[in-house]
Amino acid sequence: MSTLVTGIGELVTQDLALGTLTGAALVHDRGVICWVGPAASAPAADDRVDLGGRAVVPGFVDSHAHLVFAGDRSAEFAARMAGERYDGGGIASTVAATRAASDDDLRALLARRVAEMRAQGTTTVEIKSGYGLTVDDERRALALAAEVTPETTFLGAHVVPAGADRDAYVKLVAGEMLAACAPHARWVDVFCEPASPHAFDADEARTVLEAGRAAGLGLRVHGNQLAAGPGVVLAVDLGAASVDHCTHLTSADLDALAGGDTVATLLPGVEFSTRSPYPDARRLLDAGVSVALATDCNPGTCFSSSMPLMIALAVREMGMTPGEALWSATAGAAQALRRTDIGVIAPGMRADLTVLDAPSHLHLAYRPGVPIARAL
Ligand code: NIG
Ligand code: FE
Repeated sequence: MSTLVTGIGELVTQDLALGTLTGAALVHDRGVICWVGPAASAPAADDRVDLGGRAVVPGFVDSHAHLVFAGDRSAEFAARMAGERYDGGGIASTVAATRAASDDDLRALLARRVAEMRAQGTTTVEIKSGYGLTVDDERRALALAAEVTPETTFLGAHVVPAGADRDAYVKLVAGEMLAACAPHARWVDVFCEPASPHAFDADEARTVLEAGRAAGLGLRVHGNQLAAGPGVVLAVDLGAASVDHCTHLTSADLDALAGGDTVATLLPGVEFSTRSPYPDARRLLDAGVSVALATDCNPGTCFSSSMPLMIALAVREMGMTPGEALWSATAGAAQALRRTDIGVIAPGMRADLTVLDAPSHLHLAYRPGVPIARAL
């Protein structure tokens, strides 16, 4: 069953040959795009949708989210707005609430969060574990995440659980926990942040990442969020697909990113919700680094599921043009997930399309907080 989509005021394809088209149309069939071009030369199709001049962009790719959790940390947010600093200590309260929740409770919370994302134009989401921190609780989180996305990430190395011995916990994560979780995961991630007493240093992170790689998982790293540290260089060194946060970068970090093929994923909702300085996207782009944007949707540092908000923050606060920010939220984030079938609108790509209730992509940053984007 093919569908012809017409009345596209602006079509941002992110395809180098196609570029951005006005007065465009496209045809998709069974979830795959089969034709893109000027409306006047569109082929016939079984069905037809007229968008009345709205803009169409690739569905947003949210390549970093922590959606399997229960509980509420709004009081922690309020305390931060009153001057408290974030150090990862609040994760323990989400771990307790998540362990106490039933499978069905977590499934319902997850479904609601994924629907909330879709309603704001996100068509692919990566989901991490990391609020279980036992073999059974981490495996459960990943099995639930795998029900809603193929992009699942084992984050047993989120923090050292309260009362646990650090070395014994790293051994558990890299051994029995990884073995239980790997069948449900595509990726392994570590919160590498020596500035936090709860997170992991470079040696601990390397142990977990190398074990994950040996188990067949791709690598991702939470790095350089709270202070400059070893996360970025470690990620590039190990060939990770992405290093996420990158808020505090030295010139050596920048050189490593520019010389490797690890994407720098920026999460400006975190700086917004922790009242921290934003990462310098301009410096990364000018050095030739591939930059992605994602929400990091989680109960501690950013409880927002909105990719349009991330685009607006990137433009307003981080020196990105609207076009660069949109690329980072679509094609760039697809690269951060090493996906070649999403993030771009072109024949052969998945028909993951987002419609804007606006004439152009500029409105994503121009109309902050207004729900103009939805997945088609
Ligand atoms: O990506 N930094 C580590 N992990 C999450 C926050 C987790 C939490 O506070 O619940 C992040 O910001
Ligand atoms: Fe995160």
